[in-house]
Amino acid sequence: MTIQSVEWKNDAIVILDQQQLPNEIIYEHLTTIEHVWESITYLKVRGAPAIGIVAAFGLALWARSKQSNHLELFLDEFEKQRDYLASSRPTAVNLFWAIDRIVKKVKRAQSVAEAKDLAVAEALAIQKEDVQTCRRIGENGLSLLKDGNTVMTICNAGAIATAKYGTALAPFYLAKEKGLTLKAFACETRPVLQGSRLTAWELQQLGVDVTLITDSMAAHTLKTKEINAVIVGADRIAANGDTANKIGTYGLALLAKAHDIPFYVAAPFSTIDLNTLTGDDIPIEERAAEEITHLQGKAIAPAATKVFNPAFDVTPSELITGIITEYGVVRGDYQTELTRLYSNEIET
Ligand code: MRU
Repeated sequence: MTIQSVEWKNDAIVILDQQQLPNEIIYEHLTTIEHVWESITYLKVRGAPAIGIVAAFGLALWARSKQSNHLELFLDEFEKQRDYLASSRPTAVNLFWAIDRIVKKVKRAQSVAEAKDLAVAEALAIQKEDVQTCRRIGENGLSLLKDGNTVMTICNAGAIATAKYGTALAPFYLAKEKGLTLKAFACETRPVLQGSRLTAWELQQLGVDVTLITDSMAAHTLKTKEINAVIVGADRIAANGDTANKIGTYGLALLAKAHDIPFYVAAPFSTIDLNTLTGDDIPIEERAAEEITHLQGKAIAPAATKVFNPAFDVTPSELITGIITEYGVVRGDYQTELTRLYSNEIET
């Protein structure tokens, strides 16, 4: 079964509502840019590349619906819509990368009609490229593993967090195609359970042997089970390789180090932000207290409990064995290697 998180259909956006998983597979039509903003903010569409894709389509949707013949006014308003979508979530840089790419393209238009077409075409191109990008990440990731290996992961960096294949989960898709077996341990990923609700579900759909653990079981599991690698996704990778990903990732990296297990980050180049120099410069989203104090609408903490709810943490680059990208596995001096790859592969 191929599940697509975001689709552009008859000038509208159709999303898989990831908040309903694993209990229901519900597709929702987003018909306004406000719907798109809400779908990102309330995690119906989540995962760095998927957020970028739906935001890109959000701008296309707005452009298509706008009645105007005045190019300059249209472009002014287009940029305001870009800023509006940019306010939906702060950490995943793919969001800004995708909407800025659309704005840049649309600014080349000679007429409003052309601007509308360019917005749609560019959004479709971003989505299409992500399929190939993730496939290459899967191939590069798989080259680090052996048939029969077991991988631990956190959050969901799977097909539903991208256009297809995922990043951290992409090696599982490629392994299936090649008739190889990989097993997974999925951390449940408190507070909103992307690991149990999404990764366990997605890997089961793929026919992968996946074992669910709570986040607090990671140390014991790394010590007592044969885990060959930890592979996680990323929301933003700074120029020096420091990586923001779902809260709990940093702890997992420390544990992997303590148990001498390789710790890989899998991400497309659109997640690498050379303008952000170190992890300290990455904005970390803090989300509503209810995500921690309530479970399925029911209180699990005393009323008015003080809460700290950062959605992401930053893993320092020295804990990262390698960054699996579409251009290969980056290791060692990330600052130099990422800059070199960027100028060789992206700027040429
Ligand atoms: O809050 P989320 O669910 O959007 O967080 C997602 C992650 O942390 C993923 O690991 C990351 O975006 C990579 S998705 C390929």
